[in-house]
Amino acid sequence: MRLNKYIAQAGIASRRKADELTKNGHVKVNGKIMRELGYDVKPDDVVSVAGKVIKAREALVYYALNKPPGYITTTADEHDRPTVLSLLRDVSERIFPVGRLDADTTGLLILTNDGELAQHLAHPSGKVYKTYVAAVDGIVSQDGLQQLRDGVLVDGRRTAPAIARIVQESARETVLEIKIHEGRNRQVRKMCRAIGHPVLRLERTAIGDLELGRTKQGHYRKLTRQEIDALKKL
Ligand code: URA
Repeated sequence: MRLNKYIAQAGIASRRKADELTKNGHVKVNGKIMRELGYDVKPDDVVSVAGKVIKAREALVYYALNKPPGYITTTADEHDRPTVLSLLRDVSERIFPVGRLDADTTGLLILTNDGELAQHLAHPSGKVYKTYVAAVDGIVSQDGLQQLRDGVLVDGRRTAPAIARIVQESARETVLEIKIHEGRNRQVRKMCRAIGHPVLRLERTAIGDLELGRTKQGHYRKLTRQEIDALKKL
């Protein structure tokens, strides 16, 4: 990493100011004054500014992955299934998934190294709506839909009201759109089972207003500045 970027990412000064500090002899690398502005800081270099050793923080990065089925969102698996991290091999930062999707669930998953944002999105008081499209077995009646809206018993506890509508119906299955703000274990699957319609396929299509856009299954994209700011405000 270029020296001025390294100094800036340590929160010491802007890049321009960092160049000035370097020119004026205030920057040392491995104990020696470094005046070369373009110096490339190596991983084990010790950089100091005005006598104080500094460390660059990793830049914060944010990705939206379109998760394929069969990938798990935890980092290790007893069944040796691949993890979602294996789909972001080009990313050098130490990112982690925000929340979980079941191995069989597809769709939008945020990955970041911003722990603060991850906590913010996961916090139950935050009421961030997540949108799921669930293909379920059978034809869902208006009564079944209403039960989802009112809350159903899942693991002995009623779910918070959901926003639910029918997107499509065929002879054997119904496609539902369900928005919930709780993040209980396998919640959508359990809610649908509770009204007698087991889930056949489940996809997450949005978190708040964030959508995948044109990102295909197994692919990922960087979030835009506006998308990141919107998530932080949720
Ligand atoms: N609800 C589920 O049942 N599964 C998921 O992966 C996410 C929400």
